[in-house]
Amino acid sequence: MSYTNILSEIDDGINIITINRPSKLNALNKETIEELHTAFAKAEENASTRIVIITGSGEKAFVAGADISEFANFSKSQGAELARKGQELLFDFVAEMGTPVIAAINGFALGGGLELAMAAHFRVASDTARMGLPEVSLGVIPGYGGTQRLPQLVGKGRAMEMIMTAGMIDANTALSYGLVNHVVSSEELLPLVKKIAGKIMRNSPMAIAAAINAVNAGYENGVDGFDTEIEEFGGCFGTNDFKEGTTAFLEKRKARF
Ligand code: COA
Repeated sequence: MSYTNILSEIDDGINIITINRPSKLNALNKETIEELHTAFAKAEENASTRIVIITGSGEKAFVAGADISEFANFSKSQGAELARKGQELLFDFVAEMGTPVIAAINGFALGGGLELAMAAHFRVASDTARMGLPEVSLGVIPGYGGTQRLPQLVGKGRAMEMIMTAGMIDANTALSYGLVNHVVSSEELLPLVKKIAGKIMRNSPMAIAAAINAVNAGYENGVDGFDTEIEEFGGCFGTNDFKEGTTAFLEKRKARF
């Protein structure tokens, strides 16, 4: 399938999705969000896709935010609908995927860009990356999950400061905040993310999906994450992956998932 604003290539079980509007610093317009939804949904459906890496094209930006030119004249109800639809189609969709999603942050990750990276299951950044939620400088607030996911990742005080100042932090500050897991040079970014993907791919995709669901449950209102863990733990028993993983251990060989 060909897209207008994104590239999607699958190689050896790894699906790299690249947001490809470099002249607009990969800003997320409506069409890009829809294309991303389609690409992520295909990755989730395709059993041979074991990992998704999301990144931006060009040297400057991962994503410089939602496309400001599209919503500048919106009414209150259109604004609410923009956030609701975006969260449903892309940000919550990514966060809830059973296939691991890693964000490779190769430059500016601002507003909706940082929110997309935060919806991924974890993040790796190049040392050129700069991250922030500048929405209050535009007279609006983050609407794609930023007020919820940033405090979950960096703590309430740091999130409040980042949101209120609308400022940007550099990659090493993001590393010290726990917002990204690793910082490397631009050249090393995709190789490192692929190396981590390789380690993940040695493990059971079924168990990984169950673990993602259990971890996410702890952040859902009204859901007891410990109960979800018990259910997901029990659900693993009797599966082919569980049989293969335990048999391989007992036979002193590597499991083949
Ligand atoms: N929405 C729409 N267009 C955007 C955009 C966004 N979020 N971010 C960048 N662009 C466009 C610019 O309008 C410009 O387009 P043009 O060449 O047609 O004028 C192009 O991308 C390049 O951006 P420019 O601002 O010239 O680059 P810069 O290097 O001077 O500045 C940034 C980089 C990231 C600091 C700056 O682009 C910026 O502040 N962007 C908006 C960030 C933001 O507020 N995001 C949150 C949105 S809710």
